[in-house]
Amino acid sequence: MSTILVTGGAGYIGSHAVFALKNAGYEVIVLDNLSNGHREIVEEVLQVKLIVGDMSYRSLLDNIFATNNIAAIMHFAAYIAVGESVTDPAKYYRNNVVGTLTLLEAMLAASINKFIFSSSCALYGVPQFIPLTEDHPQNPISPYATSKWMVEKILTDFDAAYHLKSVSFRYFNAAGADPNGLLGEDHIPETHLIPLVLQAALGKSESIFIFGIDYPTPDGTCIRDYIHVNDLAQAHILGLQYLLNGGKSEVFNLGNGSGFSVREVIETAKQVTGKDIKIIERDRRPGDPPILVGSSDKARTQLTWQPQYPNLPEIITHAWQWHQKRHIVEAKK
Ligand code: UFG
Repeated sequence: MSTILVTGGAGYIGSHAVFALKNAGYEVIVLDNLSNGHREIVEEVLQVKLIVGDMSYRSLLDNIFATNNIAAIMHFAAYIAVGESVTDPAKYYRNNVVGTLTLLEAMLAASINKFIFSSSCALYGVPQFIPLTEDHPQNPISPYATSKWMVEKILTDFDAAYHLKSVSFRYFNAAGADPNGLLGEDHIPETHLIPLVLQAALGKSESIFIFGIDYPTPDGTCIRDYIHVNDLAQAHILGLQYLLNGGKSEVFNLGNGSGFSVREVIETAKQVTGKDIKIIERDRRPGDPPILVGSSDKARTQLTWQPQYPNLPEIITHAWQWHQKRHIVEAKK
């Protein structure tokens, strides 16, 4: 049986991918420094081996590769807050780029040459056309997005020079939670729209801020393409099988192809939760493109990827189930 090393497997998207890997019959080892991840999710819910450590420690990586028969790596470990990356770019380049470079060098030294990378549609910057396709020009407008762009460039060069085969998935906005209610989105601090709206619906905060109401969109707020985290996870399984079967390096968008404004997301959350949510309008958040909506035709065709949960109300319902459940658990503590 193939063993897959999942970096960042204690985080939101990583934990859903680990669950999908286990269900597909893979052996999994998680490497996570727990800066944002959750130990109990890996050890108690997913019940896979967790190595607590940082990918920037080369000797740790060498040891993992020497003592395990790793067939491929899924790399989720990264900082993800667009706004923070503008105010603290060093944090993003050090971790997301330099850390990934260390990981790639260690892989190559251990003769592992299959890599699945969590990239981002943020690297397209302000769209020149919609829906975004993989060949859209890349003009990242935040250090976060640039960090993803840089790693994709490194992967292209590493394939040419060292035959490292990679699949880079350019996610649109990951959202939702596994319908079993055991896994969900739990960033500390939370910066993402849907979990923040749901926290407001639970009364954990008084209101939700809308960052920018003067964007060139129909209602003035930013438009995003929300994609269910389980559908992302399933794409990773397909991408892995593709590489294990000898596929060449590729990039794929992963989104639903339909956009929702910040106001529409809040409205949908109100309907799903049945709660009134107070809105406060604020200035734009730096680094936010006005609209990001993608075409995932390439993944659908080449990987036969078929999203199971494309509807925003269903995505928010699954997230809501998990938030409510966690709220009850917290209240009992
Ligand atoms: N937003 C608000 N209020 C909030 C939080 C967010 O108005 O309290 C707005 C943001 O300004 C943005 C939209 O809601 O316009 C979505 O913001 P998120 O923070 O939820 O998501 P981002 O689009 O900034 O970023 C996410 C991931 C990135 C990924 C990107 C792709 O965090 O990794 O989606 O679109 F690159």
